[in-house]
Amino acid sequence: MSIAPFAPSSRRIAVRPGGGEARLRPTAALRPHAPGGALLPVVGGELRVPLVGGGEARYANLDYGATAPALTTVAERVTRVLPYYGSVHRGSGLPARVSTALYEQARQTLAGFVGAGADHEVVFTRNTTDALNLLAGAIPAGAGQVVFLDSEHHANLLPWRRREHTAVAVAPTLTETLARLRAALAERPTALLAITGASNVTGELLPLPELVALAHDAGARIAIDAAQLAPHVRVDLAALGADYLALSGHKLYAPYGAGALVGRRDWLDGAQPWLAGGGAVREVTWEGTDWHDGPARHEAGTPNLLGAVAIAEACNTLDALPAGALEAHDRSLRDVLLARLTRIDGVRVGQIWADSEEAIGTVCFAVDGFEPGHVGAYLSAEHGVGVRDGRFCAHQLLSRLGFGGGALRASFGVGTAAADVERLADALARLVREGSRHAYAKGADGWAPLGDDRALPDLL
Ligand code: ALA
Repeated sequence: MSIAPFAPSSRRIAVRPGGGEARLRPTAALRPHAPGGALLPVVGGELRVPLVGGGEARYANLDYGATAPALTTVAERVTRVLPYYGSVHRGSGLPARVSTALYEQARQTLAGFVGAGADHEVVFTRNTTDALNLLAGAIPAGAGQVVFLDSEHHANLLPWRRREHTAVAVAPTLTETLARLRAALAERPTALLAITGASNVTGELLPLPELVALAHDAGARIAIDAAQLAPHVRVDLAALGADYLALSGHKLYAPYGAGALVGRRDWLDGAQPWLAGGGAVREVTWEGTDWHDGPARHEAGTPNLLGAVAIAEACNTLDALPAGALEAHDRSLRDVLLARLTRIDGVRVGQIWADSEEAIGTVCFAVDGFEPGHVGAYLSAEHGVGVRDGRFCAHQLLSRLGFGGGALRASFGVGTAAADVERLADALARLVREGSRHAYAKGADGWAPLGDDRALPDLL
C-alpha cells in the first residue's frame, strides 16, 4: 500500500513547479502523550457538560467523523494570524500582502501533506462536498461515465448521478467488490472512478493502490474522497499515482470553513469556473471574459484565508507526529471499543466487507430494542457522551447493513482518550442491563429526555 503511516516531516516536499519545500516546524504535537490518553490537545478537550437531573461530566466527544474539534495548535495559529487578516490577492496594505503570502503558503503545505505531484494543483473549496461537485462539473463532455460504489457518502454519490454513471452494488467481500468495479469499468468508456478512502459509516479502508491500478488499466482516472481518510491515514497522491483527492478542513481538526480539491490541472483548467466572480478573471470586457487558469479559476470571491491557514497548521501538526503514532492511537481505541461492544447483549456492529482488514476510528452499531435516536439522547443526557445517530448521509449503505432505520456511530481521533470509549461502552452496557434512569420521548426535533433541565451555555 502507498498509504504510509504519518511520517516525520523530513520527506514532505511539495513537488509542484514553483513550489518550495512545505514549511514544517516543531509544534506542541511533539510532546509525548500518556498511554491511553489523547494524542494531541484539542480545543474543548476538557469541556464539561450538564447531565439531566443534575451534575455534569467531561464531554466525551465520539463524533469526530461528523466534524472534529480544532487542534489547539490550529486555534493558536489562527489567533496569531488574525491581526494580519487582510484581503487575499487584493489590497496594497501590509496585512493584505501577508495574507496573500499565508494563503499561498497554505496551498503549498497542503500539497506537501497529501503528496501532490507535479501535475496536481490545490483548489481551496468549502469542504469535500464542494470539491467533489466542482470535479463533477469539470469532467469533459464525452469523456465517459463515472463509476462509484453504492456504499458511498452522498457527497461522493449524488454529484455523479447527474452524469452518465454506474453505481456498483457492494458485494459481501472486498475481493468481489473490486471484481464488480472492474466489470463496470470495462463495460463502457469511463472517465472517472470515484471512491472513498475510508467508509464514513464503518471506518473500513479501501485498497487504494489496487483501485488506482484498476481505474488506470481501464483508461479512467480516480478520485479519492478523503474526508474520513485524511485525518487518520497518510495519503501520498504521487506515490499512489492517483488523480484527485478531496478533503474537508472541519474533519481535519481545522473547522474554519475550508476544504480542498487536489488534482490534475487539465480538466480543472478546461472547466467552467466553479464560481463566476472576481478573482477568477484576468480581464472582463463588454465582449467577454478571460478566465484565469490554475486554482484562481475556481476560487472566485474573497478567499477563506483563515480556513486555509487552519488546514495548513493541522497538516503541520499531524506531520510532526512520530511515524505510526496516529494509526496506533486509532487502533488501540478501536480495539478497546470493539472488544467491549461485542460483549454487550443486543449490540450489533456493522461491517461492509467480510475480508476488510483495516479501519479508521469509526464504528457503527445498533442496540436491539432501542431506536438509535433514543440511545443517542440517553448517552448525551445521562453520560455526557456525544455520538451520531441516523443514516450518516449513506442511506443505501445503511439499508444494506440491515440498519435501514438508522444506527449509531462512534468516531474518534487525536483528542480521544481510552476513557472516552470506555465510558461509551459502560453506558451502553448499563442501558441494556438496567434501562435509562430518565424517560425519553420522540418529538419534532428527535429524541430528548422528558423534563430536560440541562442549562445551555450563555452563548445562546
Ligand atoms: N459527513 C459527515 C458524517 O459522515 C457529516 O457524519
